[in-house]
Amino acid sequence: MSNTDLIIIGAGPGGYKAAVYAAKHGLKVTVFEDVHVGGTCLNVGCIPTKTYVHSKTFEEAVERQPQVVEALRSGVETLLSQPNITLIRERAKFIDAGTIEASSSGEVWRGANIIVATGSSAKMLPIAGADSPQVVDSTGLLQLKELPRRLCIIGAGVIGMEFASIFQKFGAEVTVVEYLKECLPMVDGDIAKRLRKLLEKRGITFYMGAGVKSIDGSTVLFEQKGKEVSVEADVILMATGRKPNVSPDFANAGFDYDERKGIAVDGNFETTVKGIYAIGDVNGRQMLAHAAEMQGIHVVNCILGIEDKIRFDFMPAAIFTEPETACVGPTEDQLKEQGVPFECHKSFYRANGKALAMNETEGMVKLCCEPEEGKLLSAHVFGAHAADIVQEVTAYITLGATLRQLRETVHIHPTLSEVLIEVN
Ligand code: NAI
Repeated sequence: MSNTDLIIIGAGPGGYKAAVYAAKHGLKVTVFEDVHVGGTCLNVGCIPTKTYVHSKTFEEAVERQPQVVEALRSGVETLLSQPNITLIRERAKFIDAGTIEASSSGEVWRGANIIVATGSSAKMLPIAGADSPQVVDSTGLLQLKELPRRLCIIGAGVIGMEFASIFQKFGAEVTVVEYLKECLPMVDGDIAKRLRKLLEKRGITFYMGAGVKSIDGSTVLFEQKGKEVSVEADVILMATGRKPNVSPDFANAGFDYDERKGIAVDGNFETTVKGIYAIGDVNGRQMLAHAAEMQGIHVVNCILGIEDKIRFDFMPAAIFTEPETACVGPTEDQLKEQGVPFECHKSFYRANGKALAMNETEGMVKLCCEPEEGKLLSAHVFGAHAADIVQEVTAYITLGATLRQLRETVHIHPTLSEVLIEVN
């Protein structure tokens, strides 16, 4: 049996960043990973898809993807090869609340603290034909070596919209079937509509308010406004959400978890068993790589007794369609539902010099502020580099700044971020 200060299960962005941070602060860390370091994000998620976004052709994307992933993966492996970290390339199994067994070698480890960071996987619809050979999840879609002529995407959420935008650009005939009336339910309604309309103009067919009932080989069958409709496709992407990766041996540790909602955690991401934490997708809070990273840092701070002021209530997010969509803080609808008084200020990319010069005039910014003091509450951006623009507002919101303070900050000219100080 080996003893260690901290055991981390899973070397995705949550797990590996926590390991490096903990080791930097003097903890002895043991990390278990049975697939690849970097997790979904680096190997089959954010990084490969961004390689696709920034490739001109499908062939270029297929060629570049493994190169980019390999370069980053070896960087993470280097980070994890420092003296305070032991990387065990095996599946970890809970024996009891403080003991982990490496599943192949049978080696046993005891940790003073344990972080579960096992991530999530695609949630496939429990419908007839979901196992047809034409059906893939996002990982399967990224493994295609030939561009499908017709791609049908089930679900206009984050994954569905990103791949719709990417595969239409490569020349595939893309159809999206979505159960709800609008795409991207978590995004500001105005912005979601603008994005969908733009993608429609580019040739993507959207069936909204259409629940998929079954799949028959290459035929996707759904109901829209009481009518039976079908779409033929060479590849069918199931993008209907992700589920936390929980495992039966979690019961040996004794913490509360649920197949659907993941591991129950408190505000410090501690499970119902003291000293065992769960970060990232497996706790079902915010399925975002950067959320997992920050949760991991916070947990290590808790273990070390370091106080931090990380604002988990202001989690920026971006959807890497072309152009991008990004936001931080509540949407207008959410503010209304919460009864929070607010003012909304807008500006448009077409009035921004840099956007015109870049030929990226499609886009808008919406800032929601408290009416009296003008304290910034949220930002919603659609347009080129929306993620970077939202990042700037995230800093202001985190620091409790006002719209006036944002306007009084000198912005470089000409830049896209000037759209922020150009709001009405
Ligand atoms: P999602 O929850 O964003 O969207 C799933 C969509 O499928 C929903 O709009 C839902 O109404 C629809 N749907 C469900 N059943 C349906 C049916 N029978 N027929 C038609 N439509 C149906 O899930 P998604 O896109 O799979 O993403 C999973 C997670 O991964 C999300 O939490 C997302 O935030 C995260 N992610 C984040 C990224 C980013 O931040 N850029 C990129 C990729 C994923």
